[in-house]
Amino acid sequence: MFDSIAIVGATGAVGQLIRTMLEERDFPFEKITFLASKRSAGSKIKFKGKEHTVKELEPGAFKGIDLAIGSTPDPVAKDFVPWAKDAGCVVVDESGYWRMDPNVPLVVPEVNADAAFTHQGVIASPNCSTTQMVVAMKPLYDASRIRRVVVSTYQATSGAGVAGQRDLIAGSKAALEGKEHKYETFAHPIAFNLIPQIGSLKYKGYTSEEMKMVFETRKIFGDDEIQVCPTCVRVPVSNCHSESILVETERKITAEEARELFANAPGIKLIDDLANGKYPMPKDCDGDDATFVGRIREDLSCENGLAFWCVSDNLRKGAATNAVQIAELLVRAQAAVS
Ligand SMILES: NC(=O)c1ccc[n+]([C@@H]2O[C@H](COP(=O)([O-])OP(=O)(O)OC[C@H]3O[C@@H](n4cnc5c(N)ncnc54)[C@H](OP(=O)(O)O)[C@@H]3O)[C@@H](O)[C@H]2O)c1
Repeated sequence: MFDSIAIVGATGAVGQLIRTMLEERDFPFEKITFLASKRSAGSKIKFKGKEHTVKELEPGAFKGIDLAIGSTPDPVAKDFVPWAKDAGCVVVDESGYWRMDPNVPLVVPEVNADAAFTHQGVIASPNCSTTQMVVAMKPLYDASRIRRVVVSTYQATSGAGVAGQRDLIAGSKAALEGKEHKYETFAHPIAFNLIPQIGSLKYKGYTSEEMKMVFETRKIFGDDEIQVCPTCVRVPVSNCHSESILVETERKITAEEARELFANAPGIKLIDDLANGKYPMPKDCDGDDATFVGRIREDLSCENGLAFWCVSDNLRKGAATNAVQIAELLVRAQAAVS
């Protein structure tokens, strides 16, 4: 057990859910500290029936803290992770900053739990769009190595944090009333629209969000040969990312075999009954920790292709749940040696 833990970015969209997860899963600790920016310092948070005061994140904040779960913007994580490490605190980090550092394991417990135990003080949790995709890929990959993935995402506004959630509601209201809304997070109106850009231009016409899906997938599977072609799109859905995924495997996996593999895979819930109009939808997956899979079909254009639809709560499995699961791996490992 870690005696003293901290949530860094405790007031954010992911941070709020990490608090809920720790309560729901009865995560063991003696003392908890909530850290955020100067803006929130002094505000109150209710946790396990007790009121706590949010403290400002500053270099001395990690004294006496054993484990921190961080969900802050990348530049903040760049600064605070070394402060925590220097104080002897292990960090599970949600931001993008440390994910591709060769000394930092990038972990999804259903896929590469063992990598967590190679950590040197920091473990990264992947981007939300990558996490649900690799959970879904894992049973197929184990049955027959995946050579290629073509993925299109339909990403909820909560992926852009609390400000993204505010923008969808306020922007939709304004649009219905025929008024203008000044968007905080999105470069274009998200109400009654789709935005085929998440992140900035990164490489050969792909965005930073899309290149995260390429590099993070390879790192998590430890397979640099997986080819990934992503298109990331922001959609006017409040929570839960959806993905249309096409994988090309080394040997053919039939739709029937895939259904059985998905049905038996940890972390996956299968809803696949097109005839009766049953498939995963964001509204039904909101608040669930699973990765949902449905619409499983053999590719009509390629011998070893398999297409499916995948939905997951980006704030839960895409962020908070995955981070807390990583922390639980560390707790279990400690318990095993003590
Ligand atoms: N949303 C998702 O679906 C998702 C999924 C996976 C990963 N992530 C990653 O998780 C991180 C947080 O995302 P989010 O959606 O929760 O964002 P958010 O709602 O904007 O929350 C950001 C958090 O970071 C804190 N923060 C900001 N600037 C700070 C500073 N200078 N010093 C200390 N704390 C600061 C904020 O505190 P204040 O309230 O005081 O500003 C807030 O608690 C990001 O790196 C994001 O990429 C998000």
